[in-house]
Amino acid sequence: MAFEEKIKQLLDLRVKAKLGGGEKRIESQHSKGKLTARERIELLLDEGSFEEFDMFVTHRCTNFGMEKKEFLSDGVVTGYGTIDGRLVYVFSQDFTIFGGSLSESFAKKICKVMDQAMKVGAPVIGLNDSGGARIQEGVNSLAGYAEIFERNILASGVIPQISAIFGPCAGGAVYSPALTDFIMMSKENSYMFVTGPKVVKTVTGEDVTDAKLGGANVHATKSGVAHFVVENEQEGLQKIRKLISFLPSNNLEEAPVIDCEDPIDRLEDTLNSIIPENPNQPYNVKDVVAAIVDNGEFFEVHEKFAPNLVVGFAHMNGMSVGVVANQPNCMAGVLDINASRKGARFVRFCDAFNIPLITLVDVPGFLPGTGQEYGGIILHGAKFLFAYGEATVPKVTVTLRKSYGGAHDVMSCKQLRGDINYAWPTAQIAVMGASGATAILYGSELKAIESEEEKIKFIAEKEQEYNDKFANPYNAAKYGYIDDVIEPRNTRFRVIRALQALATKKDSNPMKKHDNIPL
Ligand code: HXC
Repeated sequence: MAFEEKIKQLLDLRVKAKLGGGEKRIESQHSKGKLTARERIELLLDEGSFEEFDMFVTHRCTNFGMEKKEFLSDGVVTGYGTIDGRLVYVFSQDFTIFGGSLSESFAKKICKVMDQAMKVGAPVIGLNDSGGARIQEGVNSLAGYAEIFERNILASGVIPQISAIFGPCAGGAVYSPALTDFIMMSKENSYMFVTGPKVVKTVTGEDVTDAKLGGANVHATKSGVAHFVVENEQEGLQKIRKLISFLPSNNLEEAPVIDCEDPIDRLEDTLNSIIPENPNQPYNVKDVVAAIVDNGEFFEVHEKFAPNLVVGFAHMNGMSVGVVANQPNCMAGVLDINASRKGARFVRFCDAFNIPLITLVDVPGFLPGTGQEYGGIILHGAKFLFAYGEATVPKVTVTLRKSYGGAHDVMSCKQLRGDINYAWPTAQIAVMGASGATAILYGSELKAIESEEEKIKFIAEKEQEYNDKFANPYNAAKYGYIDDVIEPRNTRFRVIRALQALATKKDSNPMKKHDNIPL
């Protein structure tokens, strides 16, 4: 073959590969409001940066006449490129080829990019749109999944792993995204479940739709499986780019520092009056977050799951930080099972990837009740406690108002190796609130008082006495548990100064194979 013909052959093969499962299937994909695997990659990566691997790979299956059905690239587009100039590896499942189902060759392609990402220390982004295990390949497909799972596990805490679900993701296939750091789901067309509606009907008799069983809304609000929900794929791909901007490329690097034009000593007078007079009145802690971080920009994670705790990324003087804050606007900011799970996972992610933690505390305690106890709040709360206690990244805590009981300890207190712990003058650091404490401390005296009027007077006096002693930050400051009491409007400056001081922090945990966090 002449050289020109060889070049033509190459170009023809490339054109063929880029057509995936063919025009008709691409049209069908578009008609569902979905992009193709390659279109998604184009939107995700910097223009022209994608370098594709394994375009000429095909499956090797000969069962059920499969040898007659071959498509170049075999249902997944893989390679590397850049996001804002930073290297990332990507795989994008192609539903137009055998419904994006996973064959042995398909799995090998994914493993290849994961292995290389680990060698060079770059994030892996997986765009999922698949009918699951390729039925014709039987156990080879299951083995392929397990190869990927093992790599997800070994890469965990070494390189960031991000999954977007833009179509079906069912059966054991859900476990690869579940092993990654973040899961994003698009509102339309995406669902995740271990067993689909038909199996559910057969086994439990329950009638349920795909969306109700495993749609984006369900996983964002009820199960907590999805960290992000997006209206459409375009928005989702932009959001992944933004997420990457907060993260280092691997666990040995720091997150990129960006230019900051927001003055570090910007005073926020609104913060001096944000805490209501009445301690039972709520306020929105996201207003506090927005007031202190660079340009008021907060990238919230798990927004719709356990909204009584707020977590997410921001920049402080251009440094990437993880923010964890109790939300008085929702269930008074109490810690429950879901908030504990959410907080623990986020804190561990930040610690694994050298992202300093800022904790804003306004917590009345743990949620009481049989529902919580039967659900294992003891273990879930312990997870959150464990996560903070083992974290060695810089930890700056600001107590805004309540910090009661066990929840005080959990929320990055000094003894869990909190580095710099500040409190506002409105802080109340105690075992519990005044009314609960008074009822317990003076129970027998109260019983002995007959007149209702006298009782009310007695309670008011005792509550006042308790508040004078404990409903302030000075009792904790007296013991050095609070490093300083700061003026709320000055919080941004004080926290940035703290982070600057801690930038060279070195701390470590004892050598061990791994810990035994209460799962
Ligand atoms: C082989 C598959 C396939 C699969 C879809 N296709 N899923 N081929 N193995 N798992 C093929 C179809 O035959 C069809 O081929 C094309 O992909 C598009 O599929 P449609 O059914 O026409 O599309 P749609 O109506 O949109 O339905 C999509 C779907 C459905 C909901 C995903 O295809 C489906 O239910 N598939 C099976 C899902 C499943 O049960 N997978 C196994 C889960 S268990 P043609 O040639 O007609 O276009 C699992 C175990 C993993 O994955 C274990 C890990 C440990």
